[in-house]
Amino acid sequence: MTASGRFVTLEGGEGAGKSTQLEALAALARDAGIEVVTCREPGGTVLGERLRAALFDLERAPEPLAELLVFNAARAQLVAEVIRPALERGALVLCDRFTDSTVAYQHYGRGLPLETVEAVNRAATGGLAPDLTLLFDLPPEAGRARGQHGGSDYLEREALAFHERVRAGYLALANAQPARWLVLDATLPIPELTRMAWERTSSD
Ligand code: TMP
Repeated sequence: MTASGRFVTLEGGEGAGKSTQLEALAALARDAGIEVVTCREPGGTVLGERLRAALFDLERAPEPLAELLVFNAARAQLVAEVIRPALERGALVLCDRFTDSTVAYQHYGRGLPLETVEAVNRAATGGLAPDLTLLFDLPPEAGRARGQHGGSDYLEREALAFHERVRAGYLALANAQPARWLVLDATLPIPELTRMAWERTSSD
């Protein structure tokens, strides 16, 4: 890894509050005088935002392999254009979703082989991995009940069983690499979640 900054990713199902937490953590970092760069996946670059719009404009899910490649096309651009340069400057990078989303959704959710998902993820990132991943864990029914911000897309409309597999996948990933993950109960009050997330984000 060429990077010298700190790379922190936020993960979780729909309605888990990742974006609210990302904003809160970025504000705390700025207050502490730390250079912080925020991004979201898919997105964060002109190409990435266009791919996001094209994907979420679809009425129904595309071919799983096509979906995997679109997420990773956006990711390759984001890593090269935003994340690597920021880490090389020594910045704190907070990213709303990264490769773990792809393993959770495209492998555990869709059923694509793990080797395929990992190989494409690796090609897109050049092997860049987060230093810390914050999992905002929430039962899918609770996420759904929190309502859709900005209308629902085909992924949000997937059956509850799909979202249950995604959640179980995240928990399996966290269990397999406990040093990299902090699992947070997303039903806790927002300020408490921010406090716990910041404690780990700002350490090391
Ligand atoms: P969100 O960031 O607004 O939650 O929307 C992104 C959606 O895309 C969400 O349903 C998760 C999904 N997704 C994947 O399925 N695979 C991926 O690799 C990424 C980054 C997102």
